[in-house]
Amino acid sequence: MKVVSTAVDIQALSLTYRRKGLRVGLVPTMGWFHEGHLALMKEARKRVDKVIVSLFVNPLQFGPNEDLDSYPHDLDRDCVLAEGVGVDLLYAPDTKLMYPNGFSTNVHVRGLTSGLCGGDRPGHFDGVTTVVSKLFNQTLPHVAVFGEKDFQQLAVIRRLVQDLDFPIEIIGHPIVREKNGLAMSSRNSYLKADEMAAALSLSQGIKQAQKLARNKQEVSVQEIRDAVAHEILKHRECGIDYIEVVDKTSLQPCSVVNSQSILLLAVKINSRIRLLDNSQIIGS
Ligand code: PAJ
Repeated sequence: MKVVSTAVDIQALSLTYRRKGLRVGLVPTMGWFHEGHLALMKEARKRVDKVIVSLFVNPLQFGPNEDLDSYPHDLDRDCVLAEGVGVDLLYAPDTKLMYPNGFSTNVHVRGLTSGLCGGDRPGHFDGVTTVVSKLFNQTLPHVAVFGEKDFQQLAVIRRLVQDLDFPIEIIGHPIVREKNGLAMSSRNSYLKADEMAAALSLSQGIKQAQKLARNKQEVSVQEIRDAVAHEILKHRECGIDYIEVVDKTSLQPCSVVNSQSILLLAVKINSRIRLLDNSQIIGS
């Protein structure tokens, strides 16, 4: 596996592949790989000839009081893991090269970004869409793989690609979980042993919601939200940012729960660690 650190180099390599008729895939990441990231890389490996993984902790998508400075990182460890699943190129650009003095452009997707994580993290999705647009132009992929763990992010990226005519196929990959149900995340490394039970309440809340939907003829959005909140608030460490049942394409609140609905959760553990989870409630 080759490690590349400049846009000029990665673009030249990708163009060389494309001229040879090879298909290129991109998996954008912020590093500290876990099985969720590796599953995305394996998915790309199945679909394309050359797999590029970008590793860039993007300052634009972090708020002033968020964890940019403490975000876990270990390039050597990540290189070993990526190479192990057959990644061809790891693209790890420097922040000063990504955002040189004078950088003035912002990519904003309206609508989909206003609620949920966009409400709690103002400017976050502009940071994501700006960096992902740059990564697309730098790596010139035919295919890019994103995780459903960040469900709103995936919906926003699909909109971005459609609206700006990026000739890229976007693949969504299901959430990869620990055996105990916890959705894998780089931020799980912040969890202390005595916070684990609280962290597990997100996936347990989802299971409760699914059980409720299975056992009742018709279940209301409010019943689902109450059941999930009840499960989560059993743990005093938990603070709920949101529990919403939305349409899986428009991300607008559902009035009835059906197979188009998705339950989205964001919970803070001890006001420090923000965890996300989501699932279909019916038909999953
Ligand atoms: P990061 O949090 O590193 O995630 C990189 C990719 O891995 C995202 O597409 C995310 O949805 C996916 N992912 C994370 N945990 C997962 C899990 N448990 N199962 C399946 N997929 C999972 O998301 C970002 O980075 C950034 O916002 C980025 C898109 C790279 C832009 O900076």
